[in-house]
Amino acid sequence: MIEQAKTIIQAATRIVSFSGAGLSAESGISTFRDAQTGGMWAKHDPMRLASPQGFEEDPKLVIQWYGQRRKDIAAAVPNQAHCALAARSDIINVTQNVDDLLHRAGAAQIIELHGTIARDRCHSSCGFNEAVPMNDPPVLRDCPNCGSQLRPAVVWFGESLPTDAWDKAERACSDCDVLLVIGTSAAVYPAAGLIALAKSAGAKIIIVNTQTSDASHLADFELLGKASEVVPQLLH
Ligand code: OAD
Repeated sequence: MIEQAKTIIQAATRIVSFSGAGLSAESGISTFRDAQTGGMWAKHDPMRLASPQGFEEDPKLVIQWYGQRRKDIAAAVPNQAHCALAARSDIINVTQNVDDLLHRAGAAQIIELHGTIARDRCHSSCGFNEAVPMNDPPVLRDCPNCGSQLRPAVVWFGESLPTDAWDKAERACSDCDVLLVIGTSAAVYPAAGLIALAKSAGAKIIIVNTQTSDASHLADFELLGKASEVVPQLLH
């Protein structure tokens, strides 16, 4: 099956990848809802740590938790799947991941649907936004612009996706020959809806995951295996 999928990729001129936490799993970054290995949302309540209400109730706890995640990501390195994607500068990488591993692998085209943990922004949306040192993350601090509080520039539950990223992702997915879906449970919307969008626009859907997912029924090829092993085989 991998050879057939590879042939389709070789014939394609417009390839888009749509990735989730499984892409970074082998770099040592926890996934969120992995049925086999647990995942972050099995250990932590996402509404306390990843929602505007949670932040407003206990901002120190949220900033501390993101501080540890930032340190973990700073200590991680891109794996073979990030590197294989980055080696193909023609591929548009639509990602739900907030880590910076595709950037550090050198990927040319990245659309971050859920924002980035590498920056802070004003929680009151005054427009202030700045890069933070990932290996020495800041504690809870006020926005220097408006006095509100700063928080990671990621999308939390109940928040809208950044319009610009969403528009670009929709365009890329409705205009590709192949959508390579890597390491996502496809459980979180609207992001997961991009897979059905690409399929209905005529793209071949190639899924790489260690297990079946909510997108399995959309797959033309479902390759069960680790991203770091399967993705390089597909793209080389
Ligand atoms: P999930 O944790 O929901 O799913 C991770 C997927 O990766 C699962 O389907 C696993 O089977 C698969 N997986 C695990 N290890 C893998 C490996 N080595 N190779 C290939 N696949 C592997 O993560 P996402 O789908 O990314 O939202 O979750 C979507 C969103 O939910 C995240 O962006 C985050 C979370 O709440 C926000 O932060 C807004």
